[in-house]
Amino acid sequence: MRTQVAIVGAGPAGLTLGHLLHREGIDSVILEGRRREYVEARIRAGVLEHDVAALFDEAGVGERLRREGLVHTGVELQADGERHRIAFDELTGKSIVVYGQTEIVKDLIEARLASGRQLQFEVSDVTLHELESDRPRVRFGHEGAEWELECDVVAGCDGFHGVSRESIPPDVLRSFTREYPYGWLGILAAVAPSNDELVYAHHERGFALLSMRSPELSRLYLQCAPDESLEGWSDGRIWEELHTRLGMEGWELREGQILEKGVTPMRSFVAEPMQWGSLYLAGDAAHIVPPTGAKGLNLAVRDVHVLAEALAAWYRTGKRELLERYSETCLRRVWRAEHFSWWMTTTLHRGPSDDEFGLRLQQSQLRYLRSSVAAATSLAENYVGVEAA
Ligand code: APR
Ligand code: PHB
Repeated sequence: MRTQVAIVGAGPAGLTLGHLLHREGIDSVILEGRRREYVEARIRAGVLEHDVAALFDEAGVGERLRREGLVHTGVELQADGERHRIAFDELTGKSIVVYGQTEIVKDLIEARLASGRQLQFEVSDVTLHELESDRPRVRFGHEGAEWELECDVVAGCDGFHGVSRESIPPDVLRSFTREYPYGWLGILAAVAPSNDELVYAHHERGFALLSMRSPELSRLYLQCAPDESLEGWSDGRIWEELHTRLGMEGWELREGQILEKGVTPMRSFVAEPMQWGSLYLAGDAAHIVPPTGAKGLNLAVRDVHVLAEALAAWYRTGKRELLERYSETCLRRVWRAEHFSWWMTTTLHRGPSDDEFGLRLQQSQLRYLRSSVAAATSLAENYVGVEAA
């Protein structure tokens, strides 16, 4: 087997890359370990930055996103029982689109199948070879047989637990990590969202977030322990805690049937460099952010946009400059998002060992966001997506 770009992983990064390359007339093979149904059902992020939504539109996969995506021009921050709106449109001229990662993934898989280019699910034992050469190879198992795929470059889009990152020698790869002493308990509920916009709530019992997927589906989160067991969380207890943390005079949180529950640990992680030899890492394979800033999906899409343009320039002109700058270009944006996500997280969550000093700092910062246009603008421009700083 031979292709131009071997893509490991059919999450948002791998699928978007395959699509952008196809638009440039570049062939790729996407190798995914899981079943299609699993990939399409995995509930993850839900917020697209303005420019990321525009990118899907320009790439011809934005039709359903434009129809069903919910354009939000701001979010609300809640502290001390009061809500304060951060008006993205007024502060930055941009907005965001609420559209589930599952839906983007379905749209991209459909576009891939229509393109006639290869996407193989349920592959096993993916290994990368001769990455230092310009004829790297990917070996894998599929339907009982062993395969070797020869290519020009390998795109490691296989998420945090994938195999690509480990193919970079340990003396080259540097990792930067921060673990948080909390996680999120998330639910999907069959009930109309109780607020038109997302609500990020600071509360003495811990953070809570009101989000949504559609006019009929609410997505809600509660700060919990990183290894919290769902056993102690009956539906009744979840709603009660959500009422406590999100509650406000004159506002009612609507309850509905809980369709899905899960616990997500929180971590910050960056691998440097994002390129080694013929291997290019993109998305969660290279970096993780805690979900508080809604950056994970957006970073993944922006990485592969840079990569697709660099590969297109190389195939068109033979010049490698953009490819050689790939890691540096991405890491500038990645570190901006890492800072923003860490800052949103530590401003809004209560850690088990946080002291009163930490609480006073958070309260002061939240008041500052309410009273200062400069502070609110900083949050807004990071949330809607800034170019590399
Ligand atoms: N072989 C083949 N496929 C693999 C392997 C492997 N060894 N390891 C992992 N994969 C697949 C996973 O099954 C998954 O479908 O790679 C894909 C990686 O997808 P994601 O984890 O969704 O990562 P990415 O595409 O970078 O998207 C980042 O996803 O986790 C969220 O919050 C994150 O929104 C962000 C986005
Ligand atoms: C979500 O809807 O899943 C969501 C929204 C905003 C976040 C994180 C998750 O910051």
